[in-house]
Amino acid sequence: MDYFTHQGGALHCEDVPLSEIADAVGTPVYVYSSATMVRHAQVLRQSLEPLADPLIAYAVKANPNAAVLATLGAEGLGADVVSGGEYRRALSAGIAPEKIVFSGVGKTEEEMALALEGGLFQFNLESVEEAEMLSAVATRLGRRAPVGFRVNPDVVAGTHAKISTGSAENKFGVPFADALAAYRRAAELPGLDVQGVAVHIGSQLTSLDPLEAAFTKVGMLIGNLRDAGHVITVADLGGGLGIPYNSDLPSPPSPEEYGAMVRRVASGWNVRLVFEPGRLIVGNAGVLLTRVIRVKPGSTHPFVVVDAAMNDLMRPALYDAWHSIEAVAPHGSKATVNVVGPVCETGDTFAMGREMDTVQPGELVIFRTAGAYAAAMSSTYNSRPLTPEVLVHGSDWAVVRKRIDIDRLIAADAVPEWLVAARA
Ligand code: LLP
Repeated sequence: MDYFTHQGGALHCEDVPLSEIADAVGTPVYVYSSATMVRHAQVLRQSLEPLADPLIAYAVKANPNAAVLATLGAEGLGADVVSGGEYRRALSAGIAPEKIVFSGVGKTEEEMALALEGGLFQFNLESVEEAEMLSAVATRLGRRAPVGFRVNPDVVAGTHAKISTGSAENKFGVPFADALAAYRRAAELPGLDVQGVAVHIGSQLTSLDPLEAAFTKVGMLIGNLRDAGHVITVADLGGGLGIPYNSDLPSPPSPEEYGAMVRRVASGWNVRLVFEPGRLIVGNAGVLLTRVIRVKPGSTHPFVVVDAAMNDLMRPALYDAWHSIEAVAPHGSKATVNVVGPVCETGDTFAMGREMDTVQPGELVIFRTAGAYAAAMSSTYNSRPLTPEVLVHGSDWAVVRKRIDIDRLIAADAVPEWLVAARA
């Protein structure tokens, strides 16, 4: 459920007409609903409720905007970070270090040092080689690093290949069969405090079965590790629960169903559970608001050319992702069209042969479910300004990232001396 609703024939975000934001800020623009993200954080927390003190570490990569992080931090969420940049963003948004988990297959010495100095809940290690590097960095700094290994359970996640992470051939985690040896080695390293196990098998999962299979393996591993003398107090079950993008398809499992499965599978583990949800919290809390530039005839269907493009929202081009496209002020009629952006690539196509609200040049449309992996993955390709972001809170709204305009992009480049001389 979200707070983008029609009121008086026009789409609003909470109590603010989207047309008001488009007129004031220009398009394209991302618009986020505070109430939607807060609700999702609360629903997830309630679904896990009987568990003792779970840590919900929001996956910052889904939407790292400072105002989004501050909203979720105020709800008590921690952060799952995968770079020094995300770590610094989480801290500067007021998220306490003891609620931060550091994931990622390529942490550098600098990133390790940053998090060791600033503090964190746990590093999720992805290899013995990484454990050795972290131990050396911690020892040099006179600190100890709290760690768990991310294990690769070799389960098929059943999602898009580019966002599956838990199969043996993926780059992620320590192979399940090598886990005991990895823990034995980590326990010998002077700079590490081994405390946890972690798993994350992919994103936008629409069935609980692969998650349950992975969690069951984690449960077995916890038992084996304890038998081998390790003290395991944490199990990080990652993120990955899918959300509805297309209302014509069956809905993914609800947070309540997910929570019930986790409680059943993890009962008796006697650990603190950690979760790393990203999309589930912010996915449908955002829309990309764009204006129709023109409607151009096409051989099968007309092309609706909008002022947002693949650089603003790359999920359709990258993953063939489906986003609902709707008029902000619908006329009540429908047409079958192709929706495309202005970028010079055929891949800059949001939808082909889509039946949607009839729209005219100059009118506003939205791409729904654009709160996660949307602005976060945007670029300035084709020298297009970086799209701004707006956060709505009831009848208030604020620009929470301004448009990074072309003057700033040009200013960031430099022309070397020898070219300046040649030009003179
Ligand atoms: N934890 C780890 C270690 C992850 O790698 C991810 C996502 C998450 C948590 C959060 O997963 P979520 O709950 O959001 O599914 N750009 C792609 C999604 C990439 C996900 C990468 N890792 C997309 O637009 O679909």
